[in-house]
Amino acid sequence: MKQLRTGIIGCGHFARKHAAHLSAIEEVNLVGFCDKDAERAISYNEQFTQRKGSIFTDYQELFSDMDLDLVYICLPPFAHGNEVELACQHGVNILIEKPIALDMEQANSMAKHVHASGVKCQVGFMYRFGKAALEFRRYLQESSSEPKGFMLGRYACNSLHSNWWRSREHSGGQLVEQVIHLLDMSRYFFGEPIKVFSLQDNLFHRDVESYTNEDVSATVIQFASGSVATIAATNGAIPNRWEYDWRLVTKEVTADFSDSNNATFYQTAQEGVPTSVISGKDDLYLAETMDLLEAIRENRETFVPIDEGVRSLNLALSATLSAQKETPINISLP
Ligand SMILES: NC(=O)c1ccc[n+]([C@@H]2O[C@H](COP(=O)([O-])OP(=O)(O)OC[C@H]3O[C@@H](n4cnc5c(N)ncnc54)[C@H](O)[C@@H]3O)[C@@H](O)[C@H]2O)c1
Repeated sequence: MKQLRTGIIGCGHFARKHAAHLSAIEEVNLVGFCDKDAERAISYNEQFTQRKGSIFTDYQELFSDMDLDLVYICLPPFAHGNEVELACQHGVNILIEKPIALDMEQANSMAKHVHASGVKCQVGFMYRFGKAALEFRRYLQESSSEPKGFMLGRYACNSLHSNWWRSREHSGGQLVEQVIHLLDMSRYFFGEPIKVFSLQDNLFHRDVESYTNEDVSATVIQFASGSVATIAATNGAIPNRWEYDWRLVTKEVTADFSDSNNATFYQTAQEGVPTSVISGKDDLYLAETMDLLEAIRENRETFVPIDEGVRSLNLALSATLSAQKETPINISLP
């Protein structure tokens, strides 16, 4: 079996999660680490390859020197440049963390390069791999009528995060940077959105220097299918807890998700409302990596291709535009 020569761009907090999985997979050989802060790349190289890899502070050199097969892009939202274009030029398969960019021009350009090159690209929307989420999606796809439903989603945390995270200019805001996971799940279940309205404010962090993100938001989405979603989010809840959950309602089934692996399904149209509990334990980050590796091996599409990153970003940016303009925003179907 040929090992995939693999690099990581952005050796910060989160990429460690991917690096830990990648270093344990036989099919993968971690060969290069790139961070503009060399110390971070060095620390990854020590922890995950016993210093066998190479260190870069410029991703252009990572691509030109390392003959990569695969790259994990874990840059903060504002730091995306031409790394996807370079990966495509070098025929390197990609996992890119969400949000893939902070504007649609850059996101569309990334997708154009991925499509033209034919490399495999997975976007880091790992909730899609949860056992209960997969089960509900299967139910929607198998139902005889057009899937139509309601989603009530909640995302709550309370953290100052990093400097770039607090700045809307650098992160895009809480909805774009973080809650995009739930926006993506609403698309996963109900298809393409046609209209969004969002209210956003900074209620709790006005005295925190350079905190320009919203810390409360309420977003309403209408889908082409007629489905409706409401997503409420805050960064003013319980410290050191990241809580997210959602309820999905259709004519026949209501499902309460405590996370994307675990949910209780209620058959509301049946006598006695039978319930079933779906319980999954799989690591969703590993699942997205294993799917990407299989897509490369079998030359098939990934489960979360680049277009999903583009469309969910469009929904998140449209929501934020709606909050700025204080008016609903129509979203064109792709
Ligand atoms: N899927 C998830 O559940 C999940 C969870 C957390 C973070 N993320 C995403 O991962 C990404 C990174 O988040 P993080 O928390 O690790 O951020 P971080 O700030 O801890 O790490 C980012 C790293 O990128 C480096 N960097 C910045 N610009 C660079 C450049 N031009 N070239 C090379 N390196 C550069 C920084 O020095 C830093 O080490 C974000 O997009 C975030 O949304 C995803």
